Amino acid sequence: MANFAKANSVEEWLDQRLAIRTIRRVMSTEYWIPKNVNFLWAMGMILMVTFKLLLVSGIFLLMYYQPNVDTAFDSVNYTIMQDVAYGWLWRHVHAVGASVVFLIIYIHMFTGIYYGSYKKGRELIWISGMILFITFSGLAFSGYMLPWGQMSYWAGMVITNLFSAGSLELHGIVEWVRGDYVPGQAFLDRFFMQHVLLLPLGVLGAIGLHFAALRLPHVNNQDGEEINFEEEAAKYKAGKKKESKVMAFGNDFLSKDIFVLSVFLIFFFYLVFWHYGFALDPVNLDPADGLKTPAHIYPEWYFLWSYEILRPFPKDPGLIAFAFSQVILLLLPFLDRSPNVAPANRRGPFAIWFWVFLVDMIVLTAMGKLPPEGIFNTIGLVAAIVFILLWVALPFITKLEKRL
Ligand code: HEM
Repeated sequence: MANFAKANSVEEWLDQRLAIRTIRRVMSTEYWIPKNVNFLWAMGMILMVTFKLLLVSGIFLLMYYQPNVDTAFDSVNYTIMQDVAYGWLWRHVHAVGASVVFLIIYIHMFTGIYYGSYKKGRELIWISGMILFITFSGLAFSGYMLPWGQMSYWAGMVITNLFSAGSLELHGIVEWVRGDYVPGQAFLDRFFMQHVLLLPLGVLGAIGLHFAALRLPHVNNQDGEEINFEEEAAKYKAGKKKESKVMAFGNDFLSKDIFVLSVFLIFFFYLVFWHYGFALDPVNLDPADGLKTPAHIYPEWYFLWSYEILRPFPKDPGLIAFAFSQVILLLLPFLDRSPNVAPANRRGPFAIWFWVFLVDMIVLTAMGKLPPEGIFNTIGLVAAIVFILLWVALPFITKLEKRL
């Protein structure tokens, strides 16, 4: 209130509050967006909305979920799914949301790679995006432990085993992470805490960083063109809207964003009501049993590509390849040594690199789901080697690229 006394009017007082000033600036016509951006530039907004849907549905699930190894499975599969009115709806929204958010994250990442939106002052946007990706991955993994089904238990076992660092056999670390020799109550407690408190806070912080980074340079556009925003905004304000290369955030860009968002929400709720099954693994409909290992253990679809980089190699090289795959994307802005900010199809060899990388990720994902036998194992191994070679070759390919 002390500041209120200093302000000469309500208007001035509102303007002193940073949050209100930011919202007003974004909503006002003073925030400019390039005109030549397509529907792919709406993915960030869709991610925000999906994250909110996950938060709200998660809060409702938390009202009946019980973080106890004896009751967790029943609290999800009977209490929430059958006893509580509309419990099934919140669970479907949460499960479908967790899966679809990764689909959109991957589209958003590949858009950034295709258009070179991680370069020339946009490095921090990319790095904060990768921090978001890693935090989101932790959030999804910890959430998958909570229904305490067979796949929760065994995926938890396999992933925490990675902390033993292969032949270094650091078993003390594995037990420290689990809180026990095998996943049990201490394990469930700590993943519960991470899922409902630590990692949601982490994601919120990382979104703040991502948005702050986005305010330094303007967003990229389909041609990678460097636009003089002040000049173009002046044209727009002088009534020459058609000639100007920019549009106002509120309401020109916002109305386009909301249109794409509406199409997405139709697709999203179609999945929630009619095809939610794809997001709920049938193996996880059996309660966790430490004495019965499932024939084939695999993670959710969005982790399959990195799982397939770990799996086809012998133990230690597999761990090294896995660690490589987890950090290498973060370094993209520094590995791409070409000065060109342009769509991949105008960048010569980089276009081939981009499409091979995209196809390789799809192949790795498909092979990760199949049992590691015969020809599938060979294809998986080749795809994992191609992944590593692509990233090693990137600085050389981009160094040779002609300046546009
Ligand atoms: C919950 C997760 C995320 C949210 C809410 C989010 C949100 C946004 C928003 C609103 C924008 C501006 C509009 C647009 O281009 O869509 C944006 C841009 C961007 N994001 Fe994200 N993002 C997320 C995750 C990521 C990830 C995982 C990456 C990649 C590592 C990433 C990289 C980028 C880049 C490079 C841009 C700049 C695009 C440009 O300048 O044209 N973001 N993000």
